[in-house]
Amino acid sequence: MSAQIIDGKQIAEQIKREVKEGTELLKTTRGVTPGLAFILVGENPASQVYVRMKGKGCEEVGFRSVTEQLPATVSEQTLLEKVNEFNNDPKIHGILVQLPLPKHINEQKVFEAISPGKDVDGFHPINVGRMVVGGPTFKPCTPAGIQELLMRSGNDPAGKHVVIVGRSNIVGKPIANILLQKQAGANAVVTVAHTGAKDLRMYIKTADILIAAIGKAEFITGEMLKEGAVVIDVGINRIDDPAARGGYRLVGDVHFESARHVAKAITPVPGGVGPMTIAMLLSNTLKAARNSSEE
Ligand code: GUN
Repeated sequence: MSAQIIDGKQIAEQIKREVKEGTELLKTTRGVTPGLAFILVGENPASQVYVRMKGKGCEEVGFRSVTEQLPATVSEQTLLEKVNEFNNDPKIHGILVQLPLPKHINEQKVFEAISPGKDVDGFHPINVGRMVVGGPTFKPCTPAGIQELLMRSGNDPAGKHVVIVGRSNIVGKPIANILLQKQAGANAVVTVAHTGAKDLRMYIKTADILIAAIGKAEFITGEMLKEGAVVIDVGINRIDDPAARGGYRLVGDVHFESARHVAKAITPVPGGVGPMTIAMLLSNTLKAARNSSEE
């Protein structure tokens, strides 16, 4: 058996086309251009790449975007003031503070400073709470992207056993809450497994849909999966590869070659979940801009 390869790049392109159409409509009917502000602290090369890619996404769909680059030594106070400036700027509908932040800055305090209506990452406790109870919210972008990938690839999670490996605040916990809701695109039986499990393999083996968000290169192999599982690989890990340009290549948390012979469907890395995160950020920002013009 060889698995269906779930093409995140193609699905993300489709969502971006939908966002672009929605943006054009918002511009012509209400005169509103969605605006997204990025705050990038320090010089983390991966964060710089992500913010550049997100900015490029904004351009593609017709948004305005601004990037505020702050030094790694910036005080928490200055960062909070910057957030507040964007909160008060009517041309800005979404605010994204790129993670990780330097150790001296309290991440949670920063999330709480963002207006919930501009919190397009969905990290403000009000939005997290609304997500848990199934209310109107901004779903965090990577989990929202996973849900879209499943639905648009014909792998509805309803009634399935979804096993998530990883319990981070930005992937594991939110995707568990989203797929648990008694709503279309969800209604799954959800298990969250993690490094504290006594027998991680036992949980993985029972997954109809496995979501790997561990952060360990090729940790899950084909023989660990249930035959016919749908595999969503959230990992982005660099491994040394002397044959590759730059001396490294990107792999997921799943060993793709062995998994594809056991799985029914699988996302590649790169080109699976990654592009979806940006597409959902744009979708959340359009929603924020629409909401603001309805107030
Ligand atoms: N760093 C890694 N993932 C994310 C994300 O979804 N949002 C932000 N702001 N930073 C991140």
